[in-house]
Amino acid sequence: MSDTLPTTIVIFGASGDLTQRKLVPALYNLYCKDRLPQGLKIVGFARSDLNTDSFRQRLETGLKTFSPQDYNPQSWSKFAAVFEYICGDLTSAQDMGGLKSELERIEAGPANRLYYLAVAPQFFAPTVVNLGQLHMESDAKGYCRLLIEKPFGTDLESARQLNRAIHKVFREDQIFRIDHYLAKETAQNILFFRFANAIFEPIWNRNYVDNVQITAAEQVDIGHRADYYDHAGVLRDMVQNHMLQLYTLIAMEPPASLNADHLRNEKVKVLSATRPIETSRVVIGQYEGYRGAPGIPADSRTPTFTALRLFLDTWRWQGVPFYLRTGKALKSKATEIVIEFKRPPKVMFDKTSDVDFSSNVLSICIEPDEGTHLRFEIKVPGSNRESRSVDMEFHYRDYYGASGLPSAYERLLLDALAGDASLFARNDENEESWKLIDPVIRVSSAPGKKELSFYPRGSWGPAEADHLIEADRRKWLLGCIHE
Ligand code: BG6
Repeated sequence: MSDTLPTTIVIFGASGDLTQRKLVPALYNLYCKDRLPQGLKIVGFARSDLNTDSFRQRLETGLKTFSPQDYNPQSWSKFAAVFEYICGDLTSAQDMGGLKSELERIEAGPANRLYYLAVAPQFFAPTVVNLGQLHMESDAKGYCRLLIEKPFGTDLESARQLNRAIHKVFREDQIFRIDHYLAKETAQNILFFRFANAIFEPIWNRNYVDNVQITAAEQVDIGHRADYYDHAGVLRDMVQNHMLQLYTLIAMEPPASLNADHLRNEKVKVLSATRPIETSRVVIGQYEGYRGAPGIPADSRTPTFTALRLFLDTWRWQGVPFYLRTGKALKSKATEIVIEFKRPPKVMFDKTSDVDFSSNVLSICIEPDEGTHLRFEIKVPGSNRESRSVDMEFHYRDYYGASGLPSAYERLLLDALAGDASLFARNDENEESWKLIDPVIRVSSAPGKKELSFYPRGSWGPAEADHLIEADRRKWLLGCIHE
């Protein structure tokens, strides 16, 4: 029945950055592709002193600024009509009551509802409590879903508290916890690469894989997010969520189907079988100049970089190290997963000098230059016994053009509208990730327990990150970046 009802998306925090930068461009693109449900209304709710007209103008300016390539004045003016704005404070029961009446007036009958919490995390629980008190969570007539941005908690305990608070109002199947990495086409493609082909899975294990490396390097620094970032740091901002999500996609067993629960059950199994992280094998770093940024204390110990090693205690992965590294203000933007295979048991050939590692390497490039590379050996023409490494490459742009990949937010919104939770984190997944990361955060933030290594902007991070992997006689690899 929900298919035949009109739908309303309510954006809490509608005057904020996320709405302008990500949500509205994604909704607009979906509209242009005719992918949004008929009769959709989008209601913005925030404290900013705006009305529907000024709200629409603000969104148009945002679209022109953040997505200029997509903007078209005719389509925008048609699309803009779906937006309404209601000014109010989500912590005020009275204002939320006003929102409820306005929604009922706009909908004029049964409707599906999607609440999008694009607000600071301290407002997640109060918003949900108010929705509950006003019985706005009911899905008796149409569906009613809640979308929540990260960070979902700041540690295990706060994540549990937040889960408890939300579960008092919404059932788990109504909750969609966003991790935008899961919605990147290239991250989703990991499942297709592994399970839509029969040739990779037989070698996807400890018998053939030497190690796995996951790098999420960012060129940008913390920008204007000092307040959030200095409390979060790289472990909460990137590792607990995005990095561990990529790790689960690489390491999981084949799910029974792509059904959300089958998929998420397998991911939870990976997280719960991961050995507690050896904190002696964790490097934390901070880029030089971070402490001089506006709003950052002069003695801040917040890490902007980390490298660490994980082991997964399963038959498939026993003894195979997974190295993760991520940081800001690094040399290039590169999110990449590298599977380094074992070397041949006996080498009968000479190696040419340009590459010193003769293993096969599969690189899955999540972003930018999305694609897959496989490095293997060939005979150097004209030589007798010399081999050299070459790359077999697939680039999305060659098949789908430079702008062929939809944004992660388009995917997330479409899936939430369709009720498909497979690209959203379940409560147990989120809590298992915190269990792994909490001890690392505790040690990292205790002066005297863990040294913070400083690194120059534009580098690949502190030398200690290289030492971490070199101690295991390996080195960091990036197959998709040719320096
Ligand atoms: C966000 C983090 O979740 O992901 C940011 O809060 C980070 O600090 C961003 O920059 C990275 O996302 P992407 O899609 O640009 O790799």
